[in-house]
Amino acid sequence: MSSFRVRELKSTDTEALLAFEIHNREWFESHIDARDPSFYSLQGVAEHIESYLADFATGAWHPFVIEDASERIVGRANLKNINSPERFAEVGYRIDQGVCGQGLATLALRHLIQEAQIRWELTLLVAYVYKENVGSRKVLDRCGFLLEQPSCNDETGGESRFVLTI
Ligand SMILES: CC(C)(COP(=O)(O)OP(=O)(O)OC[C@H]1O[C@@H](n2cnc3c(N)ncnc32)[C@H](O)[C@@H]1OP(=O)(O)O)[C@@H](O)C(=O)NCCC(=O)NCCS
Repeated sequence: MSSFRVRELKSTDTEALLAFEIHNREWFESHIDARDPSFYSLQGVAEHIESYLADFATGAWHPFVIEDASERIVGRANLKNINSPERFAEVGYRIDQGVCGQGLATLALRHLIQEAQIRWELTLLVAYVYKENVGSRKVLDRCGFLLEQPSCNDETGGESRFVLTI
């Protein structure tokens, strides 16, 4: 575990991020919503990073990557839709299939929780997960998230909503 670290996304990550996303495209698309095909190019990823960093600058998003000892990107984790007045945000994460099961998503989610608490002073985190995504539900459970029972009016497109009060 000590050979991995979580750091902020940088504008110079384009090639490394594109390689990570292409390598894991099928894997991710079997668990989470597919990205637009135009994303999978240097220009697409450069625009994606630029947009994430612009949202970081306005305090709406906090993007991270996880890298291994050789500085290869092996995962991503984001605080998304940060709502500072209401003090909540959404979490998201994805890990290279080849390094799954080693606690990296747990490491990343714990990092997000710490940033949410210390840097952003948030009090609530939310995650949306498809029912069959057993690995992700385990990560959320381990980090203290609780499954919220949907009310009749809730429409989350087949995803369950998990919340953590911090
Ligand atoms: C879900 C995901 C992030 C988990 O990453 P990870 O680094 O493997 O997570 P961790 O190692 O921290 O923990 C996963 C746990 O779930 C377990 N697990 C994974 N798949 C499982 C399955 N199908 N059935 C039962 N347990 C499973 C692992 O064994 C591990 O538990 P353990 O530590 O007790 O052995 C990764 O599989 C992924 O990126 N999937 C595709 C994208 C995605 O689903 N993102 C989350 C969207 S909400």
